[in-house]
Formats: sequence, C-alpha cells, structure tokens
Amino acid sequence: MKALILSGGKGTRLRPLTYTGAKQLVPVANKPILWYGLEAIAASGITDIGIVISPETGEEVKAKTGNGERFGVNITYILQEQPAGLAHAVKISQSFLGDAPFVMYLGDNLVQGGLGALVDKFKSQPLDALILLCSVANPTAFGVAKVDEQGRVLQLVEKPKVPPSNLALVGVYLFSPLIHEAIASIQPSARGELEITDAIQELINRGQGVAAHQLQGWWLDTGKKDDLLEANRVILDSYVETVNQGFVDENSQVIGRVTIGKGTQIINSTVRGPVIIGDNCHIENCFIGPYSSIASDVKLLHADLEHSVLLQGAQVCNVHQRIVDSLIGQRAKVVEAPRRPKALRFMVGDDSQVELI
Ligand code: DAU
Repeated sequence: MKALILSGGKGTRLRPLTYTGAKQLVPVANKPILWYGLEAIAASGITDIGIVISPETGEEVKAKTGNGERFGVNITYILQEQPAGLAHAVKISQSFLGDAPFVMYLGDNLVQGGLGALVDKFKSQPLDALILLCSVANPTAFGVAKVDEQGRVLQLVEKPKVPPSNLALVGVYLFSPLIHEAIASIQPSARGELEITDAIQELINRGQGVAAHQLQGWWLDTGKKDDLLEANRVILDSYVETVNQGFVDENSQVIGRVTIGKGTQIINSTVRGPVIIGDNCHIENCFIGPYSSIASDVKLLHADLEHSVLLQGAQVCNVHQRIVDSLIGQRAKVVEAPRRPKALRFMVGDDSQVELI
C-alpha cells in the first residue's frame, strides 16, 4: 500500500499568519501540520509516500520535510502545476501510484488517532473506497456523505447548500486502483475542479464497494487564529513531554509538562506547562503560562503570556500587561517602553488584528 499526501492547493494561506508560506507548514505545538499526517502514515507501516506540491510553496515543503529519512519513509514529490482539484492531484500522481491501493491524506488536516484501524478495515473487506467521516455542526463547509445503517455510502456531495447529513469527509481516504478509472470518467465541477467526491460517487454508481468509518476522536481545523490556538491546546494537552535540553537558572521555576529545546536559556522566569519551547530561545523575567507554544529563536524579556503561539524569531520585550490568546508571526516584534507609554506605535501587516483589552 502507498500513500498520497496533498500539500498543494490554491495558496489560500492562514491569513495573516502566513501569506508567503504553505498552510500545511504552519506549526501546531512547534511541528508543521503536514508532519502529523506523515507520522500517522509512517506509523501505519506505509513507507512509500508521494507528496503533491504546488509551484508556489513546493520548494518550502520539500526543504522542510526532506526525503523522508527522519520519518523512516521514502518521499516522492509530485508537482501539480494548477490547483485543479483533489481528483486532479490523484490523476497527476498515477505514475507514482501505479496499481497499488493507497491512502490519500489532505495535508492541512489534523486528525486524532492512527490510521491502523482504517487500513485494517480496508484490507479485510472487498472495498474500492473507504472514507473517514466526522459529524460536524456546519456540514455545508465540507464534503458530506449519506450513509446507510451498515456503513455503506449512498451519496456524496461537495459543500452542499442542503446537506443530506451532518457527516463531513475528514480528508482521509483509502482507494483501490479502480479510483483512477472513476477519475478518468468525471468532469470538472461548477467551481472548475475535478472533485474526489464526484469520483467516489462514480464508484458508488457503478456498484463498487464504498464504505465509511466514523472518526471517534477529534478533528481539528487550523484555518483561523482561534482554531489554531485550539489545535495547539489539544495537541499540547495530549502530547507534550517533560524534556529539558536547555538551561534553566536557579531563580526560575518550571512546573508541569514543559519541553525546552537545545540552547534555550530560561532566566528568572516561571514556566507553567503544558508548554513547548524550541531551540535557542532567550527567556528572561517572564511568566509563560499553560498552552503556549514558543518556536525556536524567540526572545522574551519582561513578558507575561499564556494560551498563545509565537513563531520562529518572534520577540516580545517589556510588555507589562498579560498577553493571552495571541498568535505572533515569524520575526514579529512586540515591544513596549519600560514605563507606561503615552502613545502606541504599530507596524501591523495586512489582515492583522490588534486588540488592546
Ligand atoms: O477538510 C476536509 C475537506 O477537504 C473535505 O470535507 C472536502 O470534501 C474536500 O474537498 C476538502 O475541502 P477543502 O475546501 O478544505 O479543500 P482544500 O482546497 O483546502 O484542499 C485540501 C488539501 O488538498 C490542502 O492541503 C490543499 C490540497 N490540494 C487542494 C487542491 C484543490 C492540492 O494539493 N491540490 C489541489 O488541487
């Protein structure tokens, strides 16, 4: 069995966090979203993985993720010139996929639990497609499935105005090579994309075995600031470990589960987990509260923050009010004069939000 991760797409970024970068590389608990999927696939025993990339962000995805050695897998990068749809991504990957059954995984998804049970179910039944579903409050934003009592899929619709159920396609699919024939026989949708939902519907229409598996755990969206903070909270809650590879001076307190990276210095500060701190950070006279992720090369001086995400190279200096529920981008600086300022001076990028509360 092979795997295909879709990490191309339209370049609609996680604004304003990243206009320039791939949304699949936005970190949650200091790890790119894409890597969670890669690790889940590797853990299910699949070692031959294709990653679909776009001309705009493909080089960044390649440079960051590499040839797969660090995950114990082989990665083949497949360039999709245009974001012409999920089924189009499969079409251009046909020479990589050959006749193998495969897992297709959307690279901007964060799904709890491994793929093991799903892969076993697919192998143990004569199926041509197995899809992962999750019940959601807003099905119109997703692909939606109608399923019978035996778990057979009857109908699939992409972003329906009138959803046939509240079961959304999570973005994890297993296919037999018959999917290629189905893709060859569909036409682009009204939005101009070759839809994988239409290809699966084609399999259903031909009477092939299409089944669904319902996700029991969480499925996290990372499209907006509050979604990303929530994803960060859930991941820190579940996975953060107590590891200290840096230096904590005797005037500092590190409480609860906190990961501290190499070369990081914590001076006269309190860190209350769950918190993850990357490499080569300088943290002095600070309080870092629960559910904070601090990437590498961050400088924090006289700062008090919690439930926040700081990306690589960010700086927060002499901010006397507590910073909460915040997302601070790469190399961004939040700096205040040592005494209470008479004026505030900003340089804030497009679509940013500053709340003085
Ligand atoms: O998140 C789950 C939803 O993902 C499903 O419920 C929908 O059925 C499915 O169509 C998809 O909808 P989105 O609108 O969220 O798809 P998006 O355009 O964001 O693409 C999902 C991933 O696939 C993303 O990592 C980018 C990548 N992609 C997308 C397209 C259109 C490609 O690699 N190539 C493409 O041509």
